[in-house]
Amino acid sequence: MSGEALLLVQDVWDSDPELFELIQKEKGRQLYGLEMIASENFTSLAVLQCLSSCLHNKYSEGLPGQRYYGGNEYIDEIEILCQKRALEAYRLDPAEWGVNVQPYSGSPANLAVYTAVVEPHGRIMGLDLPDGGHLTHGFMTATKKISATSIFFESMPYKVDPHTGLIDYDMLAQTAKLFKPKLIVAGISCYSRCLDYKRFREIADENGAYLFSDMSHVSGLVAAGIIPSPFEYSDIVSTTTHKTLRGPRAGIIFFRKGVRSVNQAGHKVMYDLESKINQAVFPGLQGGPHNNAIAAIATALLQSMTPEFQTYQQQVVANARQLCEGLQKCGYNIVTGGTDVHLVLVDLRSAGITGARAEKILEDISIACNKNTVPGDKSALNPSGIRLGTPALTTRGLKEQDIDKVVDFIHRGLQLSKEVTKVSGPKLVDFKRVLKEDNTFVQKVHQLREEVEEFSRNFPLPGYPDY
Ligand SMILES: Cc1ncc(COP(=O)(O)O)c(C=O)c1O
Repeated sequence: MSGEALLLVQDVWDSDPELFELIQKEKGRQLYGLEMIASENFTSLAVLQCLSSCLHNKYSEGLPGQRYYGGNEYIDEIEILCQKRALEAYRLDPAEWGVNVQPYSGSPANLAVYTAVVEPHGRIMGLDLPDGGHLTHGFMTATKKISATSIFFESMPYKVDPHTGLIDYDMLAQTAKLFKPKLIVAGISCYSRCLDYKRFREIADENGAYLFSDMSHVSGLVAAGIIPSPFEYSDIVSTTTHKTLRGPRAGIIFFRKGVRSVNQAGHKVMYDLESKINQAVFPGLQGGPHNNAIAAIATALLQSMTPEFQTYQQQVVANARQLCEGLQKCGYNIVTGGTDVHLVLVDLRSAGITGARAEKILEDISIACNKNTVPGDKSALNPSGIRLGTPALTTRGLKEQDIDKVVDFIHRGLQLSKEVTKVSGPKLVDFKRVLKEDNTFVQKVHQLREEVEEFSRNFPLPGYPDY
């Protein structure tokens, strides 16, 4: 075979062993570690097969039936199938809701929503990032506009009550009256309670604002019907498809159609979201849709309508509750005192551990999670909590009794971090140095890591066996 032909047909392990070795190392990390990052999951073989299919090759700018390129007969069918399943999965009437399945991911989806319905420098309100919101809900600090959603739009955050950790809806209602936002975002990246969409709707209505629900974190739970759905009260709903929904890394936007309201003269005011949102996605912000991802969303949505998926989501929540109770029994404080969903936020202040140290030591023992601010934290740079989620572990088949074991590993890791701190003093660099150089700790960490990995490797990973 000629060299030129070889380039096209060789397996990646033959053509690029250097890269393939890194992919395999990552596979090993996923297999031997405990993945507790709340926004992650292990997607199915079917989704991975769509992602690496021939659909990747095709350009199809525009919507089904209105493409800028030829050859889109089957691509159109795939996108229409995906749209249909998206509406079915969330039990939506196509007369009332439309959907765009082209967003490349969650952040572009959200930017498309604002671009569609809020004029430049128009006003939006979202849950503050340190209180559990997402960057794309308008995040900025006192000195810097961080997210483009705060650069191109004027954002005002709402907050959680620092004592209860629960969203302060009264404060949101008061501030919204003053700020008069064009759009209010109901959505979370780190909040362990169900949202009160009815209350959000009332506040939006008091101000003539759109209610935009970003259900990215909980869209799998919503599809399974085990937590309240945002659709009843929202004008627009976005989601990523790779978190609890367990699909590919991509995004979806749902928008209302039909009558928005009836004015004082008795005339119907119609929604005009469909063309605005479709045009914001393309040509406003994106080019060619990722057809491989759209097919993968379609197949993930098909899975989401099965009884097995519902059982999976129930187990996700049962595992999160078990995790929460287990940690509470070990004496840890859980923000809001519990969880209704797939994640828990652990407040480590009373345990005398910082979020960064906890994240570091858990990473060293092969448990992946992230440090997170907790209500009342003085500095977002030095957060006092960790966020732990159960979607990925549940996909691997862990049940409540396995979560008890996980709690034990976490507790032992956190206790060890206290021992290290006694030697290192308060600075994180010293903590890391002691962890790396002090032989006693090196050994203790090694031992615990071996135990975690021994445990973890018993639970299979979906996908291809070796990569
Ligand atoms: C609530 C929420 N919205 C949007 C996003 C952004 O998604 P992506 O990372 O795919 O851009 C995230 C990601 O974590 C999220 O938690």
